[in-house]
Amino acid sequence: MVNIVGAGPGDPELITVKGKRLLEEADVIIYAGSLVPKALLGYAKEGCEIHNSASMSLPEVLEVIEKSVAADKKVVRLHTGDPAIYGAIQEQMDALNKKGIEYQVVPGVSSFLATAAALKQEYTLPGVTQTVIITRNEGRTPVPEREKLRSLAAHKATMCIFLSISMLGDVVKELIEGGYEPTTPIAIVQRASWPEQRIFRGTLETICQEIEGKGVDRTSMIVVSHVLGSDYELSRLYAPEFSHGFREASV
Ligand SMILES: C[S@@+](CC[C@H](N)C(=O)[O-])C[C@H]1O[C@@H](n2cnc3c(N)ncnc32)[C@H](O)[C@@H]1O
Repeated sequence: MVNIVGAGPGDPELITVKGKRLLEEADVIIYAGSLVPKALLGYAKEGCEIHNSASMSLPEVLEVIEKSVAADKKVVRLHTGDPAIYGAIQEQMDALNKKGIEYQVVPGVSSFLATAAALKQEYTLPGVTQTVIITRNEGRTPVPEREKLRSLAAHKATMCIFLSISMLGDVVKELIEGGYEPTTPIAIVQRASWPEQRIFRGTLETICQEIEGKGVDRTSMIVVSHVLGSDYELSRLYAPEFSHGFREASV
């Protein structure tokens, strides 16, 4: 059996209870490089075979999985955050399907959610936006024309932008050209939930200067949204005059 497990964003306590149990039971762990906290590997039992997939190709990963399954070993393929978000797991699952190898996927806490926690910020505020867009700037992986940052910016929803910190200048330009005012608030969280977590706040027109020379180059989430400002309407869910299935209005 193969378990594709979300490791969470960095803090080793942010793996699920199920993910931790599967790590403890695993005979073979293949983990996704430096973004997976080493502390999680401490859950491995003695004698567990551990591979870092950073230096492996997909065929090499599949070979380890296939051999291990043939020897009736329990395999954990450990991915950062949640495996479904930029995790490159589809090609692995398709290959496992073709080989008739059984697997399950165990979700994890994605870094865009650890970022909200670090910022102590709700992404969906009444009267501001009810939508979160998860996206990235184009890098070596192409982004379809209709999903370019400038098109998505037109919605003025909360945008969580992965894999793009090294192109922050471009990101800001696209967002402004797409319709966000230069004064729109933006936050950058580097290594959310790790001990070395850092938070930078500014507006689209100030953020590049804000982080200049501070070594904010990798493993950072960019969040742009008016929710980072202070104007919003109160939630209806807890309003005293609002009745719903579990509570009568009290005023
Ligand atoms: C290949 S993607 C993997 C995303 C992962 N599957 C997830 O759900 O968070 C790597 C990108 O995720 C973001 N990222 C991962 N961990 C992060 C963290 N702890 N803090 C901020 N951003 C993080 C960065 O944008 C980084 O470039």
